[in-house]
Amino acid sequence: GAAGAQLSYLVAIDQGTTSTRAIVFDAALKPLALAQRELPQIFPAPGWVEHDPEEIWSATVAVVRDAIAKAGLAPQHIAGIGITNQRETTVVWDRATGRPIHNAIVWQDRRTASFCDGLRAGGHEQEIAAKTGLIVDPYFSASKIGWLLDHIDGARTKAENGALAFGTIDSFLLWRLTGGKVHATDASNAARTSLLNIASGEWDGDLCRLFGVPMAMLPQVRDCAGSFGVTMPDLFGAAIPILGMAGDQQAATVGQGCFKPGMMKSTYGTGCFMLLNTGAERVISRNRLLSTIAYQLDGKRTYALEGAIFIAGAAVQWLRDGLKIIAKSSDVGALAAKADPAEEVYLVPAFVGLGAPYWDAQARGAVYGLTRSSGGAEIARAALDAVGYQTRDLIEAMHADWPASRDTTTVLRVDGGMTASDPCMQFLADILAAPVDRPVVMETTALGAAYLAGRAAGLCPDLDGFAAQWRLDKRFTPHMDVATREMKYAGWKDAIRRTLTLR
Ligand code: G3P
Repeated sequence: GAAGAQLSYLVAIDQGTTSTRAIVFDAALKPLALAQRELPQIFPAPGWVEHDPEEIWSATVAVVRDAIAKAGLAPQHIAGIGITNQRETTVVWDRATGRPIHNAIVWQDRRTASFCDGLRAGGHEQEIAAKTGLIVDPYFSASKIGWLLDHIDGARTKAENGALAFGTIDSFLLWRLTGGKVHATDASNAARTSLLNIASGEWDGDLCRLFGVPMAMLPQVRDCAGSFGVTMPDLFGAAIPILGMAGDQQAATVGQGCFKPGMMKSTYGTGCFMLLNTGAERVISRNRLLSTIAYQLDGKRTYALEGAIFIAGAAVQWLRDGLKIIAKSSDVGALAAKADPAEEVYLVPAFVGLGAPYWDAQARGAVYGLTRSSGGAEIARAALDAVGYQTRDLIEAMHADWPASRDTTTVLRVDGGMTASDPCMQFLADILAAPVDRPVVMETTALGAAYLAGRAAGLCPDLDGFAAQWRLDKRFTPHMDVATREMKYAGWKDAIRRTLTLR
């Protein structure tokens, strides 16, 4: 309760693709209260995905208020806020009115696929990869900003005159929370725009010209922990300092305590994102993984190799909302358990193209191996298995780029909604032939953001001290025989080959 409460609590805002959440933590980083709102998805055309930034904003304010109240606290007890967010999603707003000029274009949106094809055809792939660590793909913010400036009346001129601001969700929320006083982002989010030179940590003028983005609209790039400003007092009833910021996948890497080179985590939410800490070394992938900033603390950047899969949990949503073969997401396990093990059905969830390591924006979803006895159970099984197969694709690429990760003692730390399912995690361990560790605290994304804020507030230990607090819930060890594993995986590779449009 609030009686005797001090300035020793932290609030993590986790603005994700499908929901907006706030979690209150105590100084020992124990979660005390959570508030959540679903975020409506807007699909204006096939392959297009948008969010209403005003909806994101009002939900953010509401969940922060609710979470503080649920914890029995007052805003005066909050030492700091940490923001973590769906990455790449692009908002452009008018600095004078504070109004976005259009809906946010979501990371999954494919509308700039042909613009990206043009960049590749123009031979720019190498330069972009060398500076940003990224592939040329509609996934990243830069081409989305260019689209907005080209399609909204007068936007380009206004942007050139400094009247418009760009931000990923972190930056948009910070700007709103501070009443328009601070236009900043953190290095982990900035690294996802395709405009940041990740070696220097600075915006790159040549890249901005290539994507047609005036530099006047870009936020300032900062460390992940430090003073970002304070909230307008009337929002929550006190001016609360904003002290932490990181993209959700990087925040989960922090929350999982993956601070040593070679440590890796995989988060299963809407999509699946695997990050391998590579330390101070920026590894240029030869296997179509991304090289990205894991976090920047005290001006020092730590890098990661990242494998990004666009559809993981979203495939289960599709079983529920598209196929309607389950009533709620949590029913998927029971349905999949009824699948005939003799059926060899594969589902390639390329609903919005394929990410790592294929990067095929035009590919679309497919189901292979149907027989007359295949039904909902086999398709549900295939949807869950696809998560394991896609993770195996990523880990193979990681092994090739970073040979030390091949070591059989290398474990994968997992988090996110799907990891609650034991059979799903067992299949993952089996198909990877590697141990899979599930921690006690599954809210690792929010935990990472709270830790960053707590570190800046002086409430939390250093990285090593925090990593020592990580606790294992359950380890899944592989026990599938080699022949079965390789036969199943070969079936997946075959399904992928038949789905790709780029060969
Ligand atoms: O890169 C996109 C990623 O940050 C989205 O994560 O958890 O909102 O699906 P999530």
